[in-house]
Amino acid sequence: MRRSLVVGNWKMMGSRAGVTKLLEELKGYLVASDRASIAICPPYVFLPQVSEDLRESGLRWGSQNLSQYDEGAFTGEVSASMLKDFGCDYTIVGHSERRSLFGEGDADVAAKFVAAQSARLTPILCVGESLQQRDSGDALEWVKQQIIAVVDVAGIDAFADAVVAYEPIWAIGTGKTATPEQAQQVHAHIRGVIASLHPGVADSLRILYGGSVKADNASELFANPDIDGALVGGASLIAADFAAICRAAE
Ligand code: 13P
Repeated sequence: MRRSLVVGNWKMMGSRAGVTKLLEELKGYLVASDRASIAICPPYVFLPQVSEDLRESGLRWGSQNLSQYDEGAFTGEVSASMLKDFGCDYTIVGHSERRSLFGEGDADVAAKFVAAQSARLTPILCVGESLQQRDSGDALEWVKQQIIAVVDVAGIDAFADAVVAYEPIWAIGTGKTATPEQAQQVHAHIRGVIASLHPGVADSLRILYGGSVKADNASELFANPDIDGALVGGASLIAADFAAICRAAE
């Protein structure tokens, strides 16, 4: 039985005052649960505040990105060990916004995945197709290639301590969610790709869905056997909505 996981990706949103308020509200709504893990990924600069405020809460946190390098003259970068130092458990790698807006390719994503694990952070590896790829029937093959690119570098055993997030690009921030059937099909496919290499790892791998997850569509997504939780963007900035999604995952 896989334990559900709901992760809030705040993206580049928020202010000091806004974060203080949101964390207070979240702590009011959410109590640690045996059945679901909950984490938030704020912008880097808010990690000290988040790590302080959530210390006793049972809620966990992570980053939205990391450097593939350990240390050195890499202006503007943040390393896995720095994130670990601030209590991060998770880091998102290969989000489609990093891939499309900041030019991260499969090799960068794989290097970041390995760097995360070397500091004992759990990478949340994002994969997903564009609308054009879906329309031309290439979604499953594309997602498979994105997974295999990381397996080739990190090895299949590394997926025992990782999370995969399926985020169809056309569903991100658009209000257009994949139907539960569409999401389940890709999730089952991802699990199948991993199972063909290591059935045990596939069984325990948590695969999250991301793309316009809201309080009113979370339950029908989570009802599917291969959907183990969600990576939530916009709705994670509204405490009541994020809490409702987390409750649906329990
Ligand atoms: P939205 O939930 O705002 O569509 O964002 C999804 C996402 O990109 C999470 O990483």
